[in-house]
Amino acid sequence: MATETGVNRFLAADSRTARLYEEASRYIPGGTSRLHYYFRPYPIYARSGAGCRVVDVEGVERTDFLNNMTALIHGHANPAINRAIAEQLERGTAFSEPAEPELALAKLLIGRVPTLEQIRFANSGTEAVMMAIKLARAFTGRSRIAKFEGFYHGYYDYVQVSYSSTPETWGDPDAPASVPSSGGLADSVVDDVLVLPFNNRAAVERLLEQHGQSIAALIVDPLSNRCGFPRPAEGFYAFLREITRAHGIVLIFDEVISFRIGYHGAQGKYGGEPDLTAFGKIIGGGLPVGAVGGRAEIMALLDPSRGDPKVASGGTFSGNPLTMVAGLAAMEQMTPEAYARLDALGERLRRRANAAFEAAGEPGQLTGDGSLFRILLTSEPIVDYRGSQRGKASAERMARLHLNLLDEGIIVSRDGLGCLSTPMGEEEVDQFVRALERSLRKLGPRG
Ligand SMILES: Cc1ncc(COP(=O)(O)O)c(C=O)c1O
Repeated sequence: MATETGVNRFLAADSRTARLYEEASRYIPGGTSRLHYYFRPYPIYARSGAGCRVVDVEGVERTDFLNNMTALIHGHANPAINRAIAEQLERGTAFSEPAEPELALAKLLIGRVPTLEQIRFANSGTEAVMMAIKLARAFTGRSRIAKFEGFYHGYYDYVQVSYSSTPETWGDPDAPASVPSSGGLADSVVDDVLVLPFNNRAAVERLLEQHGQSIAALIVDPLSNRCGFPRPAEGFYAFLREITRAHGIVLIFDEVISFRIGYHGAQGKYGGEPDLTAFGKIIGGGLPVGAVGGRAEIMALLDPSRGDPKVASGGTFSGNPLTMVAGLAAMEQMTPEAYARLDALGERLRRRANAAFEAAGEPGQLTGDGSLFRILLTSEPIVDYRGSQRGKASAERMARLHLNLLDEGIIVSRDGLGCLSTPMGEEEVDQFVRALERSLRKLGPRG
């Protein structure tokens, strides 16, 4: 069990963290404005970060393998990003008028991802996904969408469906039920979402044969964190491209996380040629961001230059120069060599961590690709959402492993999501593996 006196002194009842959390809970529901980082009994509070380290409010330093939920590919306080932000601060943070940095980041991204002809910025991945879906509806004249079971795409209503379904609710594996994953959705939302099983060609073919005529968009995260990073079966995205084209459906890739895995994104690695791609996280250099890019004929629906655009999209801070210069400074540092270095480190981490699981006799693995990884407490290969769900006992064991890792000076998410950042090297990978070995020992036998 994690200690209350060592690195995890935040757990002590009289810690500054406990006091902060208690006070924050009176003003903010659950003490936090975000859902996904929260863990029991309460999260650590960050005081500062530099490179790959974060210091909490107790003064404890840990190595950050989470990087604001994967958004910070250069870790904290990257000098080039900070310089760009500081210089822009002097010139102003946001204007009603467009500013040059928006153009610069647009050109950089379009230059890297061959399926982008035009791009529009937003303030979060959620907004980007929302804009992409509205574009698809306006383009096709249809209103329903299709998504994969267990895949998370932010908190726009139509994607808050079936990312947390359970054996009691998920229904037929070949025709998954459409189940709300949040309260507050209109009843009609679940009817407007067709849920597909990932990596299951026959079922996707049959379901689209049945419903394709009413579907505006099929959205897919090419490397779904929520499902434990299952890799697509050979040719699966080429198949999705073909079948969506055949049914007149707009294919959307949600690369909000997966853009981390390559210079051309996950689509450059796994194929698929989406009509539209949603971005977020790393392209903002640590500031809030989202973007949608894709085929010019679809993006033209946003164009206000010839009268009212068919799709109205606003956003007081969309494309603001502070985010744009930070994003540009972050992405310019992500050369093909930088990606290759992170890939090699990621491979080393997964290989050595998997060996640690085996040596500990603990069924478990690190999945992922490039700089992304996920700790899963099963050694079975993950191909879809249902396979990644191991039940309550396993989730509780993961929660304990998470606290043990924190106590060993390692930050990952409560459900095992992690990632590398460019300030890391083999030393941090080795540190992670040693911490994992000790954390697994402290877990004790299953059952
Ligand atoms: C794949 C994916 N899409 C969309 C989003 C939503 O992005 P944001 O949290 O910036 O709204 C996330 C957030 O984690 C995500 O992982």
